[in-house]
Amino acid sequence: MQPQSQRGFFITFEGLDGSGKTTQIKRLTAWLAARNIAPVVTRQPGGTETGDRIRALLLDSKSTGLSPKTELAMMFADRAQAIEEIIAPALRTGKIVVCDRFTDSTEAYQGCGRELGSQIVLELHRLICNDLRPDLTILLLPDLAASLARARRRNTHQTSVTGKDESRFEQEQNSFFHRVYTGYKAIAAREPDRVLVIEGDLTVEEVHAQVTRAVSSMLRQMNLISS
Ligand code: TYD
Repeated sequence: MQPQSQRGFFITFEGLDGSGKTTQIKRLTAWLAARNIAPVVTRQPGGTETGDRIRALLLDSKSTGLSPKTELAMMFADRAQAIEEIIAPALRTGKIVVCDRFTDSTEAYQGCGRELGSQIVLELHRLICNDLRPDLTILLLPDLAASLARARRRNTHQTSVTGKDESRFEQEQNSFFHRVYTGYKAIAAREPDRVLVIEGDLTVEEVHAQVTRAVSSMLRQMNLISS
């Protein structure tokens, strides 16, 4: 799985909990479908059978006392499986892959939020993920307080409907999310060619317009679409 052997197109969505990634991924998938493109859509953690089990352990608020390095290693265990099973095979056959979170999440959450630093994350990415680099990363950064309120509301609702508790991260303090936010900003500043930051108080429609503008310009460059 060499990055240079990629023939498809790899798009990742990043942002804080409650930043609206899920809605935008659905909108982008529909936009691509209207152009006869069926992307492979996946998410991290999860997406594979093993990954879903890792996800359950990571997100369950009953998983108390996970050390930051355990958390980091589990995120990469999940990612290694997803690359092997889903992402690399899809890219090899020329597909567009849309992934809800990737290594930038690990850098922002474990590197900055848990204060493990970026270096260990980037080093593991190199060793475990062969430095697989998204072609385009959409980073959604609406107002921090509003996204957190949305994420916490959503989890309370989900737990009451499904009985599944996935709120371990949402229960973190605001200072943790401030560090995650700052981490994301630093990644975007370091890699402006890859990361498109969509900031501020925008409507779903306005964000979608920015997403499709970026995606269509890259797909045109690669001759994957004509209009
Ligand atoms: P999820 O319910 O998928 O949240 P969201 O819809 O906001 O993406 O939960 C994923 C959680 O896992 C989220 O709080 C971020 C965290 N996470 C990390 O801490 N590190 C990582 O590498 C990844 C992929 C996710």
